[in-house]
Amino acid sequence: MSRLAHSLFHLLALLLTPAWTLEEQCILQSPFEPGFVAEGDFVISGIFPLHYNMEMPDLNCTYKPPPVQCNGKQDISEVNFFSLYRFDPRAFRWALTMRLAVEEINSNNSLLPNHTLGYKIFDSCAYPLTGQRAALAVINGAEEHRSPMCAGAAPLLAIIGESGSAQSIVVSRILQPLRIPMISYFSSCACLGDRTKFPTFFRVIPSDDYQVKAIAHLLQHFNWTWVGVVRGDHEYGRFALQGLLRELSGTRVCIAYQLMIPLLYNRQKAQEIIDIMRTSTAKVVVVFSAEGELTPFLRDYMEQNVTGIQWIASEAWVTSAVFAGSQYYPYLGGTIGFGIRKGYIPGLRDYLMTVLPQRYPSNPLVHELWGALYGCFSSSSTGSTSQLPPCTGHETLRQQHAAYMNTSSPRISYNVYKAVYAIAYSLHNLIQCEAGKGPFPNSSCADINNVYPWQLQHYLQDVSFNILGEEVNFDDKGDSIPSYDLINWQRGSEGNIEFINVGMFDGSNEAGKELIIQDGTITWAGHQSKVLVSVCSDSCPPGYRKAVRLGEPLCCFDCIPCDSGKISNETDSIDCISCPEDFWSNVDGTECIPKVVEFLSHDAMGLTLTVIAVFGACLTVSILAVFFHFRNTPIVRVNNSELSFFILLSLTLCFLCALVFIGEPTSWSCMLRHTIFSITFSLCISCILGKTLVVLAAFTATRPGNNVMKWLGPRQQRVIIFSCTLVQVVICAAWLISAPPFPSKNSQDQRSKIILECSVGSSLAFWCVLGYIGLLACLCFVLAFFARKLPGNFNEAKYITFSMLIFCAVWLAFVPAYVSSPGKFTVAVEIFAILASAFGLLFCLFAPKCYIILVKPEKNTRNHLMGRE
Ligand code: TRP
Repeated sequence: MSRLAHSLFHLLALLLTPAWTLEEQCILQSPFEPGFVAEGDFVISGIFPLHYNMEMPDLNCTYKPPPVQCNGKQDISEVNFFSLYRFDPRAFRWALTMRLAVEEINSNNSLLPNHTLGYKIFDSCAYPLTGQRAALAVINGAEEHRSPMCAGAAPLLAIIGESGSAQSIVVSRILQPLRIPMISYFSSCACLGDRTKFPTFFRVIPSDDYQVKAIAHLLQHFNWTWVGVVRGDHEYGRFALQGLLRELSGTRVCIAYQLMIPLLYNRQKAQEIIDIMRTSTAKVVVVFSAEGELTPFLRDYMEQNVTGIQWIASEAWVTSAVFAGSQYYPYLGGTIGFGIRKGYIPGLRDYLMTVLPQRYPSNPLVHELWGALYGCFSSSSTGSTSQLPPCTGHETLRQQHAAYMNTSSPRISYNVYKAVYAIAYSLHNLIQCEAGKGPFPNSSCADINNVYPWQLQHYLQDVSFNILGEEVNFDDKGDSIPSYDLINWQRGSEGNIEFINVGMFDGSNEAGKELIIQDGTITWAGHQSKVLVSVCSDSCPPGYRKAVRLGEPLCCFDCIPCDSGKISNETDSIDCISCPEDFWSNVDGTECIPKVVEFLSHDAMGLTLTVIAVFGACLTVSILAVFFHFRNTPIVRVNNSELSFFILLSLTLCFLCALVFIGEPTSWSCMLRHTIFSITFSLCISCILGKTLVVLAAFTATRPGNNVMKWLGPRQQRVIIFSCTLVQVVICAAWLISAPPFPSKNSQDQRSKIILECSVGSSLAFWCVLGYIGLLACLCFVLAFFARKLPGNFNEAKYITFSMLIFCAVWLAFVPAYVSSPGKFTVAVEIFAILASAFGLLFCLFAPKCYIILVKPEKNTRNHLMGRE
């Protein structure tokens, strides 16, 4: 094992050695001093991002690279409070927490008795490449004569670090061949949970798998179905976005846009992102990023004066004190997100108070801290090239870093604290090993004077302890118990932002019960009291269905009203359901209601038709009365009074039979309708036919030697009428016997209604009956046509011709109207045809005679009628 480590070390050293150094020696090309060092029996190392590295290191490999400028060079003209300090007091606090924890453990007699812990704390500059340098420095030592491997000193046992996942990945890869365990306090990327790739990685922060689950729950809880995602350009952002997409697939939530803040901040790209955020209808934006890259972005965002965005912060910045200033509140107030659970470290505040420039005159980090906190440089600092004014002692704490001192609810610091204790407890267990009962081959224990990192890893995997009431242990993947606080950014008393706990997410609860939210206590973006709505399309009310827009996400849809006959009774229905038979949709399309039953009843139309029919019948009867009264006048007698009476009687029946068509169809009324109608009309036309025959015969008989009249006496006439009607009666009888008409429900023609109608039973019979009437009428028409020019002042034949013309016209027009009219109008059309044809006959045949009888009685003489005057 040590040989492997040794050769690897050589390899790493060679990597750092330029080609021209050909001696087989460990020569470090540039020293990398730890920020803090303390010797001890067991040395652990910490890597913290004490500076934001804002400059890309020189990657040209043709010459020796200049030392990395973690704190960069400042361009005075650009100095503003965002960029002045690249020193991060927050990370510095984490580093100090590590020192505190180690010191606490060393002074604790029950934990690691008779042994001390040492530490080396390095700065990673919050960038993978510089993180890598720190990692190499950690295992190499700062200078070759101090290199643990070269000098044979106790090797490093474990590393507390790193912060960002991207850095942790690099560091873990470097440590992997040496099998040095690392415990990260802030690297949450789900990718680090892969034991095959990162076998020595542990963390005291939950994996982002849980965070994205929590965010997905949150989005669904507030019905935010249309959200944007902005992320940084690093593994953390990439994997978190991937996880979120995975969690959201199959839910109602859609992603409106996914944008990336470039690694090297670039105003133009940021401008594009801000423009998209401003114009998008998605008002909720999830940001997976850290304060380092978010600071310049938010500065540009605020310059643009964009508001109305509900931010969802990831754990990396949700408790970031940098944004707690009052100038941020109008833009960031109401932000919500899941933060690491807080803890309490009893001595932290007092400990931080002891870190003064006077106490650490040669430590540049402490001076930088002072500069960052108070905006001045401490006079005791030696050789400082700071552009800051010297401290007077009256400076006030700078707002954006004030939280350095606020140690009431440390989150990441607490993670660091737990991590140090985890190592201490593991070492404690390692020391407690009883010879012969150890976990290693042949039940051996680790040699206390020469502990290997992989032996510590074994104990780390199994460690379980209680710290300030909280259980700490690692699962197979090196992850810890998932639990978050739900944090809301509310306005504090001085207009600043306060991070208020408004719920929690406990991943160990059963599915569906992980998220607990105190809705009422939340402040929303823009100081709104109502939850902001962020949807692509408003939900569809009942009566509508969703129609997905082509080429757009599922959350964007149009609402289309249900077709009639179909309903949707809940909001956001995907489909409308058809109503059962005999039911139909209501106007709104929300309910199935029984179909309207329709038939020609005594409503306005029915009543009008009834009145007309009754009037017609009365008129006919009155004409009959007139004729009867004047039965002895020439005009009545000349024109075959008996047949006239018959015609009038049958016409009365014709009018009355229309009444049978009105009202709800029953089996009786259905049978009566067509039979009565056809028989009365046949009777009527037969009478007219008889009359025509008589007229024709009468005139032909005037020629000598013709005695047709003998064959057309009153008896014969009756026989003709009777037999013509009989044919119709027979047809009707056959119809009634074989397939009588019956009432039926028709829901085909008009799907929204049930039409009660009389089904004809046999349509052949129906058309036969009509056809027979038509035949009689045509015959009558033809005969009357021949007789129309016969002499005489009162030639009935021409009136008969005319009446038949009207009759035929009405019934010819009836056929298309009957076939095409819907529902109860079919029946109305039929009644109309009956009434119209009856009136036609009545007027054509009797109006002229009534006129002479009643108005011009002087013309009512035999001579006048014969045209002999
Ligand atoms: N949880 C984040 C991560 O794992 C926290 C973080 C720390 C971070 N430093 C960062 C994220 C820098 C992005 C950039 O990475």
